[in-house]
Amino acid sequence: MLDVKKIKLDFPILRRQVNGKPLVYLDNAATSQRPKPVLEAIRDFDTQHNANVHRGLHTLSEEASAMYESSRATVAGFIGAPADELVFTRNTTEAINLVAAAWARHNLQPGEEILSTVMEHHSNILPWLQLGVTMKFVDITDEGILDMKDFAKKLTKKTKLVTVGHMSNATGTINPIETIIKLAKKVKARVLIDAAQSVQHLGIDVKQVNCDFLAFSGHKMLGPMGIGAVYLKKERQEEMLPFMTGGGMISEVYLDQPAVWAKGAEKWEAGTPNVSGAIGLAAACEYHNRLGMINIRAHEKELTEYGLKQLSRIKGLRLVGPKDASIRGGVLTFVFDQYHAHDVAQVLDSEGVAVRSGHHCTMPLHQRLGLVSTSRASLYIYNDKSDIDRLIEALDKVRSVLG
Ligand SMILES: Cc1ncc(COP(=O)(O)O)c(C=O)c1O
Repeated sequence: MLDVKKIKLDFPILRRQVNGKPLVYLDNAATSQRPKPVLEAIRDFDTQHNANVHRGLHTLSEEASAMYESSRATVAGFIGAPADELVFTRNTTEAINLVAAAWARHNLQPGEEILSTVMEHHSNILPWLQLGVTMKFVDITDEGILDMKDFAKKLTKKTKLVTVGHMSNATGTINPIETIIKLAKKVKARVLIDAAQSVQHLGIDVKQVNCDFLAFSGHKMLGPMGIGAVYLKKERQEEMLPFMTGGGMISEVYLDQPAVWAKGAEKWEAGTPNVSGAIGLAAACEYHNRLGMINIRAHEKELTEYGLKQLSRIKGLRLVGPKDASIRGGVLTFVFDQYHAHDVAQVLDSEGVAVRSGHHCTMPLHQRLGLVSTSRASLYIYNDKSDIDRLIEALDKVRSVLG
């Protein structure tokens, strides 16, 4: 189990007061906070090693290049991938756009389809819709669980790509990606996993699940903003063209004949990369490794069970998403029939409790569930039962404040 009291001490921001109350941070599905080892790794790079990578022969540049490549190996290792199958991006959104533009655009034949689900984040819908190819969306149950019968019906020989989130940011639903990938492989479809909400809460091994692409963001996993990554299986890399062109992604350039692209991950990293971000992200991966992904999941599952139980006692509050914490990550989503989610979030903020309200970039999911807006408290390693209790106390004030 996690020693949350000790973990909290690693996060300077958690000592803050908000509106005169100690901060309870429950907006982790949007972005997470950064622990001292991550902040220190970035500071060390900025103050001791800052230089451009892969370009200079001076000491700082060599150090920066070595640190950047060692970060790639660490981040790749965190998802069970070799370093040459991991490309740094700005975030999950850019990672998915990269696969859409550099792979899907060149590999879908007329009549072939992309299969996704109605529960996806907009970042796993729009890059595919923009391609203008036929898309199908698997339905969910009223509890927000993926309808696997509908999946089996919509997965056909025409399906070229299945693109699905591992864990929903809006309902916390954990999708059975092992089964999804096995079924997809039977019809020779490729699979992209949107792991923005799962690498840090559930853990994943890309070789074990055998996906083709996997996308995630550093800022949701204790790392800095502006850095993310995409896993590109070697065989798929051979089918891909560049995403962006420019410095850093070529081996030869001519004015009168086609350029020769760099081999491996560099081909998709045009321009100066976010080196300090990559170093911070590697430090974040190491932080998770020290705690152990199994312990993290066990802690968050227990907290989710507690949260669901406590929330279900509040009058007028309706829980959204699966009731069973074994198929739900630490995302507690709810609505009050009487009050708008934005008003609820404001009351909670006045009590120092940070939650999210709105559609959480999942408008099709909200439409499917007949909802416009929901409140979402999302958990992480530094949350404990006392944070849930503070949430519940603050929710008890909603009625008296809003009438
Ligand atoms: C499931 C999922 N996919 C994609 C994204 C997009 O992440 P980013 O904004 O870091 O690109 C998010 C962000 O909330 C998400 O939760």
